[in-house]
Amino acid sequence: MNHELKLVKIGLGLVLIGLLFGVVMGMTFGTNEDIFKNYITEGIAANSSVHDAKSPDKIWRYAQRAHFHATGIAAFALGLVFLVMFSTLKPKMKTVSSLFLGLSTFYPLAWLNMYILAPSLGREAAHSHIVTETLASIGVGGLLLGCVLVLGNVFLGLFREKTEASSQRLGTKEKQPNLI
Ligand code: HEM
Repeated sequence: MNHELKLVKIGLGLVLIGLLFGVVMGMTFGTNEDIFKNYITEGIAANSSVHDAKSPDKIWRYAQRAHFHATGIAAFALGLVFLVMFSTLKPKMKTVSSLFLGLSTFYPLAWLNMYILAPSLGREAAHSHIVTETLASIGVGGLLLGCVLVLGNVFLGLFREKTEASSQRLGTKEKQPNLI
């Protein structure tokens, strides 16, 4: 396997899982949207005290947001993982930054979790649930840290791998034998 690809493999894998999740969710909407809608209707009927008239539409929107954030964020993160591969980041930093970018896959799962919990707990409780908040924090935090590392490298030269040329400039390379 290509060396650069090997360095970003875990992050890339997470991003692709996120993309696949979004695509499968969209396919499920297309083939059987009623599964989602029935789940909402039944949950609201069983727990009507925590709902108002807006609940059916709002909760259905949570499921849609899980779908389009999964595909949208994965596309965005995939581009950044490629940028990591072509960047001058140190090998270890390539692995770390792509892993952070891969964690963005957790963000759409926060919307999915809200969709799952809202019919029984109510929208507010699902929104502020510890699992929702943890998934959102990991996803957004990972995406931001990954962005900072790769953009910091591209635009500011942070965490740059030491090349032969830079070693020579710094005078750290062993003197070459005089061949003349
Ligand atoms: C980590 C990055 C992101 C965060 C934290 C985020 C957060 C949010 C939030 C909180 C909302 C709901 C706003 C509301 O309640 O009115 C929202 C809506 C939306 N987001 Fe994102 N978003 C992110 C990335 C993206 C990306 C990459 C895309 C698409 C490429 C996207 C597309 C949308 C769209 C289309 C809506 C409107 C949803 C609606 O009308 O129900 N988001 N986003």
